[in-house]
Amino acid sequence: MKPVNLTNQVEVEQLKKVSFIFNGKCLTGYKGQPIAAALFANGIRTIRYCEVTGEPRGIFCGIGHCFECRATVNGIPSKRTCLTLLEEGMIVSSDKKIGSGADFYES
Ligand code: FES
Repeated sequence: MKPVNLTNQVEVEQLKKVSFIFNGKCLTGYKGQPIAAALFANGIRTIRYCEVTGEPRGIFCGIGHCFECRATVNGIPSKRTCLTLLEEGMIVSSDKKIGSGADFYES
């Protein structure tokens, strides 16, 4: 009997490497991975700073519930980076303040 692979992993060789910018720094990741995961893989833990206390914020839930991973993506503020998938040439920057929440209702 052939063993069953219960994981849902994609071979790394099949993934397309892309470049993107975070706070002015050129980084690389894989097309289609969450931006937050690409930032984490590049050693970045702080995605933004709390508007009230100034404390660093980053990935907390990783599933779109906490909004701690918000960033401006291609000029659109308050995108949840754990849900927004990476594409070639994206420009990502730390949110300066709470945005319109435009992505609250995106699927
Ligand atoms: S880490 Fe919680 S919404 Fe992205």
